[in-house]
Amino acid sequence: MNILLLGSGGREHALAWKIAQSPKVEKLYIAPGNAGTASVGENVDIKATDFEALKTFALERSIDMIVVGPEDPLVQGIYDFFTGDITTRHIAIIGPSAQGALLEGSKEFAKEFMQRHNIPTARYLSVTNENIEEGFAFLETLEAPYVLKADGLCAGKGVLILPTLEDAKFELKAMLDGMFGQASCTVVIEQFLSGIECSVFVLTDGDNYKILPVAKDYKRIGEGDTGLNTGGMGSVTPVPFADEEFMQKVCERIVEPTINGLKEEGIVYKGFIFLGLMNVKGDPMTIEYNVRMGDPETESVMLRIESDLVELFEGVNTGELNEKELIIDPRTAACVILVSGGYPESYEKGYPITGLNLAEASDSIIFHAGTKMKDGHVVTDGGRVIAISSYGENKEEALKQCYKVANMIGFEDKYYRKDIGFDL
Ligand code: AMP
Ligand code: GLY
Repeated sequence: MNILLLGSGGREHALAWKIAQSPKVEKLYIAPGNAGTASVGENVDIKATDFEALKTFALERSIDMIVVGPEDPLVQGIYDFFTGDITTRHIAIIGPSAQGALLEGSKEFAKEFMQRHNIPTARYLSVTNENIEEGFAFLETLEAPYVLKADGLCAGKGVLILPTLEDAKFELKAMLDGMFGQASCTVVIEQFLSGIECSVFVLTDGDNYKILPVAKDYKRIGEGDTGLNTGGMGSVTPVPFADEEFMQKVCERIVEPTINGLKEEGIVYKGFIFLGLMNVKGDPMTIEYNVRMGDPETESVMLRIESDLVELFEGVNTGELNEKELIIDPRTAACVILVSGGYPESYEKGYPITGLNLAEASDSIIFHAGTKMKDGHVVTDGGRVIAISSYGENKEEALKQCYKVANMIGFEDKYYRKDIGFDL
């Protein structure tokens, strides 16, 4: 098979690494990819949202399957674009239709969907400038802290958590007045849930589903989960509190009603569903849906999938996922992200990265997040630069291995969190 994977981050390098292990793959292309994906496939200089260019390429190279890494192409309708065109409809698209992608593309849609299907989630009100007074009144019924979410995609930055009612009212107005442009013309106000979060990944063909290893990610820049939000500083799988009892509740209360709900509403969904969950005193509550894999969860989750991922994808495409086997490695896997100093605020790019050969020869697996080749040398090219992923019999062992390798890799102003997994 010829496979085209879309995206350019650590998630995509991890997916490419796993896909490339399948004996079914003849040729793997990654568009646009990064310096790391070039070692497991062939990078193609096309943006993941340039559908016309992707179509031309896919036809030229006889692509059989397109695996979509990030949310943007999904929300922009890549599934419908390819399946709606007679010349490309034979290509399997791993990812939901545009309507399915609204689960991530619109917080309002996601909350209404959860309400229609009795899926446990925080109490909420959806507000625009038209009913802002109602929004203020709703805020008054809640207790601090206050959660405000921009309806549309904001590259992970659209959620504000505010300590006082005064701040919440002020920021609500600012969001509605365009703090995140179009994306915050509608704002979802939510009750704050306390608990510990985890990420549950479901692969579905629209009828059947498989639950992939559960992971926890670490979003804040600072140790002890302090400071600004980032794209993710590390991850660990499995998550001890996501035990059999908890996961049974997740399946019964969230996964099955979600898949049945999509089916009932006639929404085509063949791909990943990422449930951001809060464990509230043993009960799972849905914080958010994403319509793709998580980053940096993928960089640990892929290590624990023993089965052929491409075979699972084939099951997704043909509606026979129930006939495929998902074998999970019982070991722990962890990932630590090396970032550019200054991230998630301003930082420099283009610094040479040293020690990669040594790191790659170690027991860890190195995924590139923000890198590129410059004059034959790998240089930094983003906030998050390298993901170091390792196995262990437990999280301590896996993380010890990650940190050993973190010291082998060098670049100017390198930073990483030394407490990944601290709360598990
Ligand atoms: P989201 O983009 O919806 O994942 O929100 C970003 C982060 O904000 C989540 O990962 C949570 O840590 C936090 N968050 C979102 N909604 C809530 C909520 N209702 N209660 C508590 N924390 C929340
Ligand atoms: N790790 C969270 C995300 O990918 O959105």
